[in-house]
Amino acid sequence: MTEAKFRSSGRRKFLQDTAALGGAAALGGFAPAIARAQARKVRVGLMLPYSGTYTQLGIAIENGFRLAIAENGGNIAGREIEYVKLDDESNPAKATDNANKLVTGDKVDILVGTVHSGVQAGMLKIVRETGVLHIGPNAGLNAMTTALCAPNMFRTSFANSQVSYPMGKVLAERRVKNAVTLTWKYSAGEESVNGFKDAFTKGGGKIMRDLWIPFPNVEFQSLLTEIASLKPEAVYVFFAGGGAAKFLRDYQAAGLKGKIPLYGAGFLTDGILEAAGVAEAAEGVETTLHYGDGIDTAKNNAFRLSYAKAYKLQPDVYAVQGYDAGLLFVAGMKAVKGDIGNRKAMIAAMEKAEIDSPRGRWRMSKAHNPVQDFYLRKVVGKENKVIGVAAKSLDYPPASLCKMA
Ligand code: BEZ
Repeated sequence: MTEAKFRSSGRRKFLQDTAALGGAAALGGFAPAIARAQARKVRVGLMLPYSGTYTQLGIAIENGFRLAIAENGGNIAGREIEYVKLDDESNPAKATDNANKLVTGDKVDILVGTVHSGVQAGMLKIVRETGVLHIGPNAGLNAMTTALCAPNMFRTSFANSQVSYPMGKVLAERRVKNAVTLTWKYSAGEESVNGFKDAFTKGGGKIMRDLWIPFPNVEFQSLLTEIASLKPEAVYVFFAGGGAAKFLRDYQAAGLKGKIPLYGAGFLTDGILEAAGVAEAAEGVETTLHYGDGIDTAKNNAFRLSYAKAYKLQPDVYAVQGYDAGLLFVAGMKAVKGDIGNRKAMIAAMEKAEIDSPRGRWRMSKAHNPVQDFYLRKVVGKENKVIGVAAKSLDYPPASLCKMA
């Protein structure tokens, strides 16, 4: 169920009304009507997981988004913001209906979400069919910024293989000879493993075995037993949220910590080090990600302070991606002076925006995915400490795979 009541006038009608008013205004005399149309609140649909293993990720994204809007004084170019929230439960089977509820039912002006790549795929059907403005603040589904890319869709996070490719490169450069991969069996896990393998095998590494577990299962025991008997030089995994916390504890409990080095996409250790027993289990684990807790820049320090003050929580990569989604939205809205119906100009401004992010400044690729640095991080105490840059300004999969309509 969404929180909002349906409005009487539809989004399409509003766009038609404002477009018509724009034409009439050119002839003069309709300024008060435009002002009234502009005074309507802008509806932001937040389609995120608020239950299940990715709950904390959804909350952090919403917090980050709201912080960016609050830093802007709570409204943008004179337009108040109204949020319409929907729990997508990380359930791909409900994704298309849920997105449709927000876009056609609640008539949101912009759809923000989600976390899970399978849900993202369902959302994209509605986003492409309706042309609603869309910002993806997490799910790394590669197709979103390759085969399925579209002018109205932007992502402020990453592509799944973009995060894992640098980890494969680092291990290959260290001359690690072989590895076992392990992940949830769905698009994000598969793309993450493929990115890792691409770089690792190009650099001479061999994959001993790919291990899988259905999403969101966390019964890791038999897989850990298999890893123990295979004795690889490295294990690469993709897990996130509550499932990642459980995996790290189980890896330690199975006696593998300190024996078989564990690596991953940074989601493995992000946002969970405060949970009971996790920091100890994760100590020394290296990952690659486009964010690290201790990035010592004025922007990151200020962001961390504001976030902690506002929410009594430490921010993580998901909070940063939500915050950057808010910054991108603000940049677009300011360029059109709050007239979100002026889509062409809004999209052009979002394409050009340089986001002054806690992760470091970044811009969109031609495929509307961030071109950004990937840090090598190591868990030290309760921090994902940046120990190097694994890839500079990485555009992967390359934006050339996207042909915008
Ligand atoms: C995904 O499904 O794309 C995803 C989920 C959690 C963290 C990172 C990626």
